[in-house]
Amino acid sequence: MNIWIINGPNLNLLGRREPEIYGTRTFEAFFEELTTEFNHITLHYFQSNHEGELIDKLHEIGFSADGIILNAGAFTHTSIALGDAIAAIQTPVVEVHISNVHRRETFRHHSWLSAPAAGQIVGLGLTGYKLAIRYFLEK
Ligand code: DQA
Repeated sequence: MNIWIINGPNLNLLGRREPEIYGTRTFEAFFEELTTEFNHITLHYFQSNHEGELIDKLHEIGFSADGIILNAGAFTHTSIALGDAIAAIQTPVVEVHISNVHRRETFRHHSWLSAPAAGQIVGLGLTGYKLAIRYFLEK
């Protein structure tokens, strides 16, 4: 089983970026924990700060991967093109947000990704990524 985690803009700064909202762990450290915990599947990780690169990656893996976990960062709230890419590919996408976007500014309440995504996990910290993996495993 091949599962991809894709993180969007500014998520490369996890651990240093607004730790009161996003925590103090780097994604690299968390990803190591994931690969140990889920050592019976193949996990891949891609991060980009560029909208087009995220779309290209979805196109590249979206007809062969078994599942995609996408935290598109702020592009979630702005990018119709990312939503279209999710709709265009075959692999199901679970949208994850570390923070509870509904408790934050109103511009974070809308997502262009939620309708084409299989589902959404919001506000549960990095645990959201684990829950998304479990969803694909049980599916
Ligand atoms: C985020 C929430 C977004 O609103 C924000 O722009 C991010 C991170 C989250 O994981 O909580 O970059 O997607």
